[in-house]
Amino acid sequence: MVKAIREHLINALATGDFISGQLLADQLNISRTSISKHVNALVEIGLDIYSVTGKGYRLAKPLNLLCKSEIINQFPKNTIAPDIEVHSLIDSTNNYLMRRLPNQVSLGQVCLAEYQSAGRGRRGRQWVSPFGSQIYLSMYWYLEQGLSAAMGLSLVTALAVSDAIFAITNIKVQLKWPNDIYLDGVKLAGILIDLDGQALEPSHSIIGIGLNLNIPEQSAQQIDQKWTDLQSHYDALIDRNTLSAQLIYCLLKRLEQHQTEGFSSMLTQWHERDYYLNKRVKLLTGERVTKGICRGINAHGALMLEVDGQIKPIYGGEVTLRADE
Ligand code: BTN
Repeated sequence: MVKAIREHLINALATGDFISGQLLADQLNISRTSISKHVNALVEIGLDIYSVTGKGYRLAKPLNLLCKSEIINQFPKNTIAPDIEVHSLIDSTNNYLMRRLPNQVSLGQVCLAEYQSAGRGRRGRQWVSPFGSQIYLSMYWYLEQGLSAAMGLSLVTALAVSDAIFAITNIKVQLKWPNDIYLDGVKLAGILIDLDGQALEPSHSIIGIGLNLNIPEQSAQQIDQKWTDLQSHYDALIDRNTLSAQLIYCLLKRLEQHQTEGFSSMLTQWHERDYYLNKRVKLLTGERVTKGICRGINAHGALMLEVDGQIKPIYGGEVTLRADE
């Protein structure tokens, strides 16, 4: 009920025109006081709504809302779009698809949302997810060879995100092993992969992408690391449906390439986009810090870390890579 009311208000306000509290109250059959409470709740999740006596409520800027049919229409001709769901308010797009495993998902199925109340980052961190200005996207992918095949997934996804950004803006982003996309040396997007299954049995994965497109000022203060957003680097307005369509298309293409040709077919492209290649780095594993030089990654997607003249492969997991300045 609350969700339906708030979704109605969002759609009514999306154009950026004034709409009176009384009209909204009549449409929803609730009091004007209730309307005001729901509007306040929307302001809290990142919507910039203000009210003017005698005119009603209005958004500071019109919203560029996600729309399933617009996303599908922007798929290249002769390609079949996967199942796509667009949610206005959700806990987490990854959680949503995880709850549907194993029988209520189809290969490549996508969940997108305008807002996440419990967006998750890596290592148990929160992913700040204000309404209507960013990209929160999850895709279901089946791993026939079991969880051992999950190794390269985040790398393949990072390549797909960089492909999509380049296709739309001509901007070349950098990739930071194992899960981040950087632009001008700061974080632009992150990837979170959730897995369900056994090492050697067919398994399921949910690939989550959080991409900073246009971070509202009030949300920016809540982010506890350096960040940037794509719109700040590009003059023309980036349409969220165009970007979502391109992300889905590029991700499917890369996942198919991974399945048929393996990660080694993408190694050269990864190295061209590798943020830390041949730089001094610190590898953080819990409390442990290992210093070395990043020598790229190998055909299995492991980081090649040179320590005291010897190159050792480092496999993913709960590790973080930082510059050693
Ligand atoms: C990270 O860099 O820590 C990973 C961030 C991943 C965030 C995305 S947003 C869509 C999907 N749903 C989630 O709850 N998290 C991922």
